Amino acid sequence: MNTIRVNTSPAYDVKIETGLMNRLGSELLAVLGKTCKIAILTDDTVDGIYGRRIEENLVESGFDVCRFAMPHGEEHKNLQWWGRMLEFLAEQHLTRSDCIVALGGGVPGDMAGFAAACYLRSIAFVQVPTTLLAMVDSSVGGKTGLDLQQGKNLAGAFYQPRAVFCDPEALLTLPEEILIDGAAECVKYGILDDEPLFALFEEGQWKERMEEVIARCIRQKAELVEMDEKDRGSRQLLNLGHTFGHAIEKCSDFGVSHGKGVAIGMVMAARLANKLDICDAGTLDRIVRTLQNMGLPTWTEFEPAQLLAAALSDKKRAGNKITLVLPERIGHCELKPIPLDRFAEWMQLAAQ
Ligand code: NAD
Ligand code: GLY
Repeated sequence: MNTIRVNTSPAYDVKIETGLMNRLGSELLAVLGKTCKIAILTDDTVDGIYGRRIEENLVESGFDVCRFAMPHGEEHKNLQWWGRMLEFLAEQHLTRSDCIVALGGGVPGDMAGFAAACYLRSIAFVQVPTTLLAMVDSSVGGKTGLDLQQGKNLAGAFYQPRAVFCDPEALLTLPEEILIDGAAECVKYGILDDEPLFALFEEGQWKERMEEVIARCIRQKAELVEMDEKDRGSRQLLNLGHTFGHAIEKCSDFGVSHGKGVAIGMVMAARLANKLDICDAGTLDRIVRTLQNMGLPTWTEFEPAQLLAAALSDKKRAGNKITLVLPERIGHCELKPIPLDRFAEWMQLAAQ
């Protein structure tokens, strides 16, 4: 088992082990120090595969368990379904000494975390991520929330879980396309600060070394979150490929998935860095080839002007600046604030 401590306020452990879901009850008991009522908040797909098994396991450890499944998919990450989650918790009479289990990918994970932050002005929650993206990114670091009609993740709170339990075995039921989507985020960690991790993807060995991949990504995320819990500085490095990627997602009306958007966005960031003499052509080439070999796209048909309009409405814009993350080499990136009046020119350089 890999255990990674996240030293936030409060601190917590992320545990990664194949088969961990089969003893979730005893693990949770060790974290909470007592039995209590547990609400499992998940989506219908994950509930159909894992809901009953997890519930039985928790009951065996002495917990009193109830379960709520929202419909799967980003289109349900909204106020309406979040309201239903809160009302479910109230109907089930959860109290402040009880606990929520956020089971599933980033959608139920973010929603359940935000419900935990708000219900009774906060109750404990743990994350049990079941997608690669949720394991290496959304379950760790305490960003919780939901989408508004005006944009993604516009409402939310920083609220840390009491623990995160990652069982790589859950990835065996994940459709290949969703797995690869999450793998784009893992490549991101390699480019940011871990060349040996990048090499696992470059050499096509990542699927056989899944537990190691997840642990390396989480270790890096934990370090960045500890340095900058509220996302005001170095945590923004995690946005490598995201400013361009979000613009592509938005231009496609979210027909392009997040991981694919990030893959293209990382190539755009590397191309821009190369044109600004921040990184060499070899670095750009390694990123392009690795993503292509994984089956991820590296090019978008949207015009720079369309991408610019979408990027300007991004929530990462602060005042008259947008901060981009640019690779210097595999394993090292820098934050580069750009005045808005130069952004059109840089978008052009990144796109072509
Ligand atoms: P998701 O939760 O929608 O999961 C993708 C699909 O996979 C869903 O249809 C789900 O039902 C299915 N699924 C999940 N686990 C499965 C399993 N083990 N077997 C079979 N099917 C399974 O999406 P996601 O890609 O996990 O996460 C995307 C969300 O995460 C976005 O809303 C994004 O904003 C959020 N996010 C949050 C953070 C953060 O820091 N909080 C970071 C990155 C992304
Ligand atoms: N997913 C980016 C962050 O957690 O900051």
